[in-house]
Amino acid sequence: MSSPIVLGIESSCDETGAGLVRDGRLLGHALASSMDEHARYGGVVPEIASRAHLHALRPVVRQALDEAGLRLSDIGAVAVTTGPGLSGALQVGLAGAKGIAYALGVPLYGVHHLAGHVAADTLEHGPLPDPCMVLIVSGGHTSLLLVRDLVRDPIVHLGDTLDDAAGECFDKVARIFGLPYPGGPAIDRTARAGDPGAVPFPRPLAQTPQHRYDFSFSGLKTAAARWAEGHAGRELPVADGAASLQEAVADVLTRKAVEACTEHGVDTLVVVGGVAANSRVRSLAEERCRAAGVRLRVPPLGLCTDNGAMIAAVGDLLVRAGAAAAPLDVSIDPSAPLVHAALQPLANPARGVAA
Ligand code: KG4
Ligand code: ZN
Repeated sequence: MSSPIVLGIESSCDETGAGLVRDGRLLGHALASSMDEHARYGGVVPEIASRAHLHALRPVVRQALDEAGLRLSDIGAVAVTTGPGLSGALQVGLAGAKGIAYALGVPLYGVHHLAGHVAADTLEHGPLPDPCMVLIVSGGHTSLLLVRDLVRDPIVHLGDTLDDAAGECFDKVARIFGLPYPGGPAIDRTARAGDPGAVPFPRPLAQTPQHRYDFSFSGLKTAAARWAEGHAGRELPVADGAASLQEAVADVLTRKAVEACTEHGVDTLVVVGGVAANSRVRSLAEERCRAAGVRLRVPPLGLCTDNGAMIAAVGDLLVRAGAAAAPLDVSIDPSAPLVHAALQPLANPARGVAA
């Protein structure tokens, strides 16, 4: 007998996503973004994001069902991001997910957003090998993780960022360079016309033994700001700045990730999160993995940034692992640390919504 169809709902930041997954297979997904509404403010405005989720949730779920050729009543379980993220935005997704799970009488699972990013890759490349090394690089997080069974075992952090995340560095420097929001894709595009060796930006923590696998990007951001200030009154060679910044970020990320694989005897590196969409991060990871004999897995571009399919993918893994459903009073955890893929207090599992 095949397992139930899992609806995944994502609303932690500015993307409203719905995805449908069964047995590791993506059946359909849809996405709405409030990105354009935030652009004039240069960053995500939480209230605008929450309101946009409220408007988009129903149509996005409907669109995902239509794409999959399914009906609401075909859904056998609901998974939803309960953290980390913007609290108002998470609340909207959770309320919607609870409504659907309750109305259908199916189990609900609270999912860690970053575990979703990791699971996204399974939709394209199949189950993750145990163990694997995961470099997670998003707008709010940068971590190097040793992952065994994503939904059964605790996730081991080999390193984290000590300050800004890699995506945050791209976003903030893009703003300083006068590039549009969101900054990561703008830096990526602009860098194509630049020389990555033009500006000798620092490689933070590259050689610091006590922070072997940790990252730090705020110094790099400051270095980029100083460099831009140094051009006051003259035209800023933005393409060179963008290419050099991108090279510095890609260099530290991929160097540490590949070293971690070699040192821990892990033969697969999985790079996930919004910054995994960066063309230089992808190409340098490829080059260095090939040289080190490490197998590289990176999700397709459309599954790197936030989406509902990745949350459905975690839900599907939880269902198949026989995990307990969340209680109906499960709440959000905006700053949830990444330890377990399922994000739900298990203190009162008896109150879970039974299938
Ligand atoms: O994973 P994600 O969609 O949302 C979070 O969970 O944060 O990641 C968003 C981040 C933003 O900082 C964005 O600028 C960055 O990913 N990003 C990129 C690219 N596409 C998105 N950074 C560099 N190059 C890109 N092509
Ligand atoms: Zn994300």
